[in-house]
Amino acid sequence: MKTRVKRKVMFRSLRLSLRFIVPLVIALAVLAYSVVPLVDRLYLRWSVRDMDIRSKLIASTLQEPLTDLLQQGNKYKINALFSRALRDERLFALGYCDEGGNMLYRTPTFPKDLTCASPGLSADQSGSLLKLPRLLVHVTANPMTYEGSPAGTLILVHDMSFFERRSTDTRKYIILLFVVLGVVTSLITVLVAHLSWRGWIDGVRAMLRGEGILRPFSHSTNTELEPLVGDLRNLLRTFDEERRLADDATISWTPDTLRGLLRKQLSGDQMLVVSNREPYIHMKGKLGIEVKRPASGMVTAVEPVMRACSGTWIAHGGGTADREVVDRHDRVSIPPGHAYYTLRRIWLTKEEEAGYYYGFANEGLWPLCHIAHVRPIFRTNDWERYVAVNQRFADAVVEEANSDDPVILVQDYHFALLPAMIRGLLPRATLITFWHIPWPNPESFGICPWREELLQGMLGSTILGFHTRFHCKNFLETVDRYLETRIEHESSTISHGSMLTLVESYPISIQWPPPLQETQPPVEECRAWVKQALQLDPDHLIGLGVDRLDYTKGIFERLQAIEHMLDLHPEMIGRFTFIQIAAPSRSVLEDYQALDTRVRSLAMRINERFSRGSRQPVCLKVEHHEPEAINRYYRAADVCMVTSLHDGMNLVAKEYVASRDDERGVLVLSQFTGAAHELHEALIVNPYHIEQTADALFQALTMPDFEQRERMLSMRAIVSDFNVYRWAGRMLIDAARIRQREKLAVRIGRPL
Ligand code: F6P
Repeated sequence: MKTRVKRKVMFRSLRLSLRFIVPLVIALAVLAYSVVPLVDRLYLRWSVRDMDIRSKLIASTLQEPLTDLLQQGNKYKINALFSRALRDERLFALGYCDEGGNMLYRTPTFPKDLTCASPGLSADQSGSLLKLPRLLVHVTANPMTYEGSPAGTLILVHDMSFFERRSTDTRKYIILLFVVLGVVTSLITVLVAHLSWRGWIDGVRAMLRGEGILRPFSHSTNTELEPLVGDLRNLLRTFDEERRLADDATISWTPDTLRGLLRKQLSGDQMLVVSNREPYIHMKGKLGIEVKRPASGMVTAVEPVMRACSGTWIAHGGGTADREVVDRHDRVSIPPGHAYYTLRRIWLTKEEEAGYYYGFANEGLWPLCHIAHVRPIFRTNDWERYVAVNQRFADAVVEEANSDDPVILVQDYHFALLPAMIRGLLPRATLITFWHIPWPNPESFGICPWREELLQGMLGSTILGFHTRFHCKNFLETVDRYLETRIEHESSTISHGSMLTLVESYPISIQWPPPLQETQPPVEECRAWVKQALQLDPDHLIGLGVDRLDYTKGIFERLQAIEHMLDLHPEMIGRFTFIQIAAPSRSVLEDYQALDTRVRSLAMRINERFSRGSRQPVCLKVEHHEPEAINRYYRAADVCMVTSLHDGMNLVAKEYVASRDDERGVLVLSQFTGAAHELHEALIVNPYHIEQTADALFQALTMPDFEQRERMLSMRAIVSDFNVYRWAGRMLIDAARIRQREKLAVRIGRPL
């Protein structure tokens, strides 16, 4: 067994070595192959240059005796002079040509093929090489002078065989050099590779033991692997998330589950909710006091949780008859006629509402957090009101708390400062803050003049919840950029002072089974009701949009897409009507008034272009609708369009799906909503892309029944599994876990 393991290790190490050696050897061989001829050529050039110099030297030495002997015509002495010169081992032959080009003297070794007229023997040329049958020679023509006049040419022939001998030797040395180089570099490379490999393996092992993730790297660990830490952390988080989801999936989430959780895990501690918008609004009507439910995703989600858990909900009392129904402590039991929980109303002056709600929250933070290309406005006056109103709500929380450690659910961007304020007053409280809108990137958030104060305020929370992981990541990066804190990415916590805040994603949802499931009219009845009200044929197709009249909802772009669809598909004219329910919202603000005008005039233009008799393509209803009426529209609609330009979650998408127990209807959903991360079977669109949205609308209107059914079934399964009780339950489970840790830490007298 041991030998097998050893052999395996050896084999792996051989493979690793070969991975480095083979390319190295190939590279060196190619290099050697191209270097040898290069060196040959260079050496030859140097040798020829040496021979040229040498020839000139010999010629100038022979010039005087030779010309003298030529004048005397002493043939014998000339031959003797040539023979003496030939004693030089490199000089192979000599010859003399007269001015007429006749070879008068030459040594017996002089090559036969070489004549005074041979090409290359011009006096003004440097030496040239000549290949004889068994010899390579270097030939130069050296002009002679006698008393200043030309006196023929001396031809010197040098033996170049030494060059061939040396060239062979050089080639041998170069190849040897490359072999040695190859061996040495291979050994060094393999050694370094093995050491690095071992270092990396040790580093990865250290990371798997938690170094760099749960605690800093130890000094001995190879920190080159630090760039991988982030990836590993994300992987661990995903695993953890999946494990938690799998755990949750074994629970069927109902109001009872949630109640049980509160009882068991949080020992029945009091639950307080704080939000700006109240869940029930009392209004003076023609027939006396009427109760209205606001168009608010936050209320849709939190109200069923409060019904299940009881407790007190603290909110701004904005209804015209709100004061008339409260007791002397400004409390009223709700829902009307049931008294499941208490609503504590806070009264705001006109100035407070203008600065805190309209100003800082909705002209500042709202556009700041949504990418909808509306500029945020920050005014010092608004900020001061925002601080003051947050403090008023913090005081109200303390008044309503019947212990020093209640569970407090803080809702939304209206109360960024509230968690730290409550923490100051009730240090042992469990604070769960949920941010219902997106969280932007650090650069965008950074333009808020009070960014540090807002972040510090939020970090008073025990748990800070966002809809998506992406918003959590943006928040962690924002804190990292602007505050001095310690961020643990693995556990997604932020330590600041003695506080620890868990930043987690909890995708919000709706009540399931849907609240109206038992009482709602059948789908056919809902269709007939809508069509009768709008005087439409029984087979007329209905599209629906349900939103607050808000620039983030993409209502204008949606109408543009409808117009484009009718342009492209004239067969739909007179056969299709889009009902847009737009709840008036924040209408004192200029941006909202401008949107109202634009939407109305576009709807009018579309109707002018495409109306056929009484059948209008767009039916714009800018008025408040109660949930029962909206549900009837949902059930009547063939298509529901949710085309927000940016949205935290968007619960209209989930409500539409929940309303369709007939498993029909198509959802067209913006990719920029949190809901698009869950409802994959919707027709996902980019709302800025008008043509694409128009195509999706047409696809929805012509989608076969079986496909509608498949898609709707799958989306209903998601919404029923991930209902709002699970959303609240997951936060409470996390809160309970943190509370237990804190209690244990107090008991043992040190942080865990
Ligand atoms: O989407 C954010 C949010 O606060 C929701 O929670 C709520 O549905 C909506 O805005 C309502 O806004 P307002 O309370 O200003 O009418």
